Amino acid sequence: MKVLANDGISKSGIDALEEAGYEVITTTVAQEQLIKYINENDIAVLLVRSATTVRKDLIDACPGLKIIGRGGVGMDNIDVAYAREKGLHVINTPAASSHSVAELVFGHFYGLARFLHHSNREMPLEGDSNFKGLKKAYAKGIELKGKTLGVLGFGRIGQATAKVALGAGMKVVAFDPFLDKARLELEFFDGQKVAFDIETISKEAVLKQADFITLHVPAQKEYVIDEAEFKLMKDGVILANAARGGVVNEVALVKAIESGKVAGAALDVFEKEPRPEIQLLMNASLSLTPHTGAATNEAQDRIGTELASQIVNLLG
Ligand SMILES: NC(=O)c1ccc[n+]([C@@H]2O[C@H](COP(=O)([O-])OP(=O)(O)OC[C@H]3O[C@@H](n4cnc5c(N)ncnc54)[C@H](O)[C@@H]3O)[C@@H](O)[C@H]2O)c1
Repeated sequence: MKVLANDGISKSGIDALEEAGYEVITTTVAQEQLIKYINENDIAVLLVRSATTVRKDLIDACPGLKIIGRGGVGMDNIDVAYAREKGLHVINTPAASSHSVAELVFGHFYGLARFLHHSNREMPLEGDSNFKGLKKAYAKGIELKGKTLGVLGFGRIGQATAKVALGAGMKVVAFDPFLDKARLELEFFDGQKVAFDIETISKEAVLKQADFITLHVPAQKEYVIDEAEFKLMKDGVILANAARGGVVNEVALVKAIESGKVAGAALDVFEKEPRPEIQLLMNASLSLTPHTGAATNEAQDRIGTELASQIVNLLG
């Protein structure tokens, strides 16, 4: 049977599929050629990430297709309900990138706590002429250990981030309207395990006591963090959004930075992607990444092997 991985797949995924007897094609076929290619080459499994779209017309025109697979979480680019109605399996890998996103958030937090985002911009410009001045400017860093992390959205990534925080010696408080509590099991290198039971509390209580706040909610109609929420936060709070553009009001964020309410913030996602507002890109209190939360070798490997094992389970 043939698998077309139209937006690429990790080598580990290819190996697992080939071992099970599948032929894996990694050519990127242009969207308008896709139907023809699938039919002419008897493709049984179409794997995509976010670039290729799989709409009704393709589903109707390719009766030989058995599985549509999405490497990653969101399936906005696939007509999932329609495909299932037509008897196709639609699979994804929702858990594969959770820890990678969590580590990116902490990369930002450690950086913001010691002004690395700023220092990395200024050292090339003034590191030789104003070393002492910069040393003074970055003298009031803080440690994460002993601080409180507030997690908004306590699902897969929220919990993975909480585990990193616990490992770093932070207290964790969390808000999730659809979850009362969660058991987090931390695994150490030598096989030891420690479990923490965390009960969620109100959003207001989280905002009031957190030194660091991180968002891990799905896309929403309304902002989760807007002007009213910033008002509740501690002065000097540090915030991260690696969830979705549009869950934090970017204008309110910039205002909260200017007023000193927010000491620094990390953004991996933006209201306007792929062209974030220039006011954000130029803001020296922001630590910025271009939506790279899931972009690690390990996450891509897990995505590939998880897709392969689901395909083998479904088709044999
Ligand atoms: N930065 C990246 O590269 C990257 C990578 C993967 C996923 N994501 C994003 O991360 C987010 C979380 O993903 P996940 O896999 O943890 O999802 P998940 O479904 O496992 O968890 C989301 C949680 O948010 C809760 N929730 C819903 N509305 C809420 C609200 N208004 N306030 C508080 N909690 C709320 C839900 O009950 C759920 O427990 C998604 O938006 C996803 O798109 C980003």
